[in-house]
Amino acid sequence: MSQRVYRYLLYPLLAKMDPEAVHHSALSGLEKMGCSARALAAVRRWYGVRSPFLERTVFGVHFANPLGLAAGFDKNGRAVAALAALGFGHIEVGTVTPKPQDGNPKPRLFRLQREGALINRLGFPNDGMERVAARLSRKQSRDYVLGVNIGPNKASIATGQVIPDYLACLDCFAPVADYVTINISSPNTPGLRELQGGASLDALLAAIFRHVANWRLAVPVLVKIAPDLATREIEEAVGILLSYPVAGIVATNTTVSRPLDWRDRYRQEQGGLSGRPLREHSTGVIRRLAVLTEGRLPIIGVGGIFAAEDAEEKLRAGASLLQLYTGFVYQGPATPREILRGLMLRTGWKVEG
Ligand SMILES: Cc1cc2nc3c(=O)[nH]c(=O)nc-3n(C[C@H](O)[C@H](O)[C@H](O)COP(=O)(O)O)c2cc1C
Repeated sequence: MSQRVYRYLLYPLLAKMDPEAVHHSALSGLEKMGCSARALAAVRRWYGVRSPFLERTVFGVHFANPLGLAAGFDKNGRAVAALAALGFGHIEVGTVTPKPQDGNPKPRLFRLQREGALINRLGFPNDGMERVAARLSRKQSRDYVLGVNIGPNKASIATGQVIPDYLACLDCFAPVADYVTINISSPNTPGLRELQGGASLDALLAAIFRHVANWRLAVPVLVKIAPDLATREIEEAVGILLSYPVAGIVATNTTVSRPLDWRDRYRQEQGGLSGRPLREHSTGVIRRLAVLTEGRLPIIGVGGIFAAEDAEEKLRAGASLLQLYTGFVYQGPATPREILRGLMLRTGWKVEG
């Protein structure tokens, strides 16, 4: 299915349905497809883009291409094989918490179509680390990179017990993931974003890397940050991140700001805004991070990527890898293929080699 067919024929039908119901049906379809080697091979032939010019090794991990699927789409790792067959070089599963939880009451996901945006306040609904890890460890031979994004249960934040939650998830996913992302930036779990503040971030990272060293966990650990940090807060966070063996920064999560057309009926909904209105802002954060880290920390650039131009903009700002979520929702299964092909054309990767 091409992007045009999806956008003009299928999407208008899907747009009439409840966004979360559509999401779950799509995931179930992808999960079923992942059970058939033949179907996966056919999808890979149609949608996959392979080229040595797209390959890269970042924080010691080899990626077939720079574009990944951001956390939140496949929270429970149900459809990773099919999503990779669609052309994503890496899939970030999660956010997963130690215990299963339901998340916030519905409705909690809103489409702002005119803006090419989503607002969500899901609040980490997920199956819990044990079920997700068991599911992922069944998928042993892989030709894509698997990241797992981890966070604390809502109840643990309420009792101030977040560090043990991160450590438990780290233990659980270190044997099955190619990298783990510490999520301290989702706006829908009250108190989580406070962990980005100086003393809290320092205490969290000290505990995490002490644990990694004690248990000799051989997994790269990344940190995902919000786009809403002030310049001084970014500087402080970078200073702390650079003082630990952090493998990279995922920038950025959704924003609580509302740079939106006032006519959009959902603009006042609470939650994190993603998609086109986030693009420039997240690129600005990436640029700032690249300068502050002097290239010492790889950056995964995410926020409002819909097309090759957006991807190129983030690479030029200093990202080594990219992720998207909302662009995939609006543009459908051919999105990674179109972006990767466009990137090769725009950057001359194909011809340079
Ligand atoms: C519905 C939805 C759920 C999300 N859930 C998570 C999550 O569980 N953990 C996380 O780190 N980011 C989550 N995100 C944020 C995305 O990973 C990404 O950082 C953000 O959407 C910006 O990228 P985009 O503009 O390409 O969507 C979610 C985003 C959306 C739209």
